[in-house]
Formats: sequence, structure tokens, C-alpha cells
Amino acid sequence: MDLGFRGDVVDFYQRYRRGYPDAAVDLVVDEFSLSRDDIVVDMGCGTGQLTLPFAGRVRAAVGVDPEPDMLARARQDALARGVANVGWMVAADTDLASLGAVLNGLGAVTIGQALHWMDHEALFRKSRPLVRPGGGVAVFTNGTPLWLQDADWSRALRSCLEELTGKRVTRTCGTDEETQQRYAADLAAAGFEVRSHRVEYSDPLELEAVVGNVFSALPVDRLPAPERRQAFFEQVGRALEPYAPFTEHVAVRVLTGRSG
Ligand SMILES: C[S@@+](CC[C@H](N)C(=O)[O-])C[C@H]1O[C@@H](n2cnc3c(N)ncnc32)[C@H](O)[C@@H]1O
Repeated sequence: MDLGFRGDVVDFYQRYRRGYPDAAVDLVVDEFSLSRDDIVVDMGCGTGQLTLPFAGRVRAAVGVDPEPDMLARARQDALARGVANVGWMVAADTDLASLGAVLNGLGAVTIGQALHWMDHEALFRKSRPLVRPGGGVAVFTNGTPLWLQDADWSRALRSCLEELTGKRVTRTCGTDEETQQRYAADLAAAGFEVRSHRVEYSDPLELEAVVGNVFSALPVDRLPAPERRQAFFEQVGRALEPYAPFTEHVAVRVLTGRSG
């Protein structure tokens, strides 16, 4: 599987993607009564933005991702932070049933900003027998993509990206209402008791973070070559300048499906 989450994209991802607010992680801990006895599996863990906060709250966390470069960076970050109760596995959502041979009785299966890459109905169904009673599945999204926000700077970013790439920029990455409702219905159909939660905050953004976030969302083969990145940065800078300073309103959504 080659999704393009490798090479320099990994650096941009780790540096410019937001972590999750404690309140969003803690509400899942409460909902599933997670404790120091529990193991959490984080599917599509990337560089570990969600895996590491869970590791701090349970016995152990396992980050699962098909992209070795993302996992290598996650592992490096865990070591740098002294987080020892975490393991990393190269695997995909389609491997979940076989992972169940070694990982079962789980407190939670979490998915952070990655479900749109997976067969979510199969994932929900296969997770059901792997979680302990009262545990469950938690689906996180980490705010609307920067180019789809309801702000003048975001609309300017979208136009600029469409001009630069020659493509329409419309991917919501699972953050839109319709997709959230579909996930909720499919979690319920898999036998989970579903609740929807939101944690919202606002945060200022520097231009560097805007461009870094855009680079983190490109597959590595579409990332501008290193010598062209400064020109890209300057072009985005000119397009957004009239709307500075930029504030991002971040709406983190969490769908929890609790097993009875
Ligand atoms: C946008 S990143 C999210 C990373 C992190 N969970 C976060 O919350 O920021 C999406 C991750 O999903 C992974 N991914 C893509 N397809 C997958 C699949 N079929 N099974 C598991 N992970 C997958 C990618 O390799 C990538 O690391």
C-alpha cells in the first residue's frame, strides 16, 4: 500500500498537524471507563498524535499504520518523550481481524482523522468482538481542513491552491456533517451505542503553519520539489496577506460507539 505518507510529508505532518485537546481524549476515557488495565489500539495512527495521549492514560497503546515512515517518526517521538508503554505495527484496517488473535479484550479502538481511508463498516463490525464490555470505538476528526473553513483567509487559500494545483480542492476528510451521520449510523448498525461529542477552540495560525499543513496533506509525489517550496510559500502568502492575522476555529468531533 502506498498512500504517499512518507519522505518529507512525514516531517510536515508531525510538525504542522495539530494534536488533540486533552478534553477530547478524556471524554473517551470517561465514556469507556478506560483505566491502567486497558489496552487501546489506534488505527491509522500516523505520527502518533492520538496514540501518545492515550498511552498516558491506559496500560498500553498500540499504533497501527500501513506507512512505515509515519510509524518510524511516531516511535522516535515516543522515545524522545520517554513514553515506553506504546508499540507500533505496520498493518491496515483490513488486518484488524487477524490482529485480534493477539489484541483482544481492548478498552478501545480509536481512529484519528483517518477513517476516510478505511472500509469503516467492516472496521466497526470487526472491532465489536475485540473490545471488552463497556469499551468501544472512538472516531476523531481534528477540525475542518484549512482550505474549507468559513473564513476569508480560508477561501483565499482554497482559490490559491486551486490555481496552483489546477484541481478543485474539496476533500472534507470525513469532517462534514453527512459523513459524520453516516459513520454514526454504521457504528449503531455494528451494535454500538453511539454518542456524538464536540470540543471547540480557536487558535492563531502563522503563514508557515498554513503552508506546512497544506504540504502535510499532499501525497509525497505531489509535494513541490524542495527548490520550489519557497515560491509556493510566497504565492500563498500574497493571496492570504489581505486577511491576516489568521485565526483557526478548530471543531474536534468525536463519535463514540460503546459496546454493551
Ligand atoms: C491523516 S493521517 C492521521 C494520523 C493521525 N491518526 C492523526 O490523528 O493525526 C491518516 C493516516 O491513516 C493511515 N492510513 C491510510 N489508510 C489506512 C488503512 N487502510 N488502514 C490503516 N491506516 C491507514 C495513513 O498512512 C496515515 O498515517
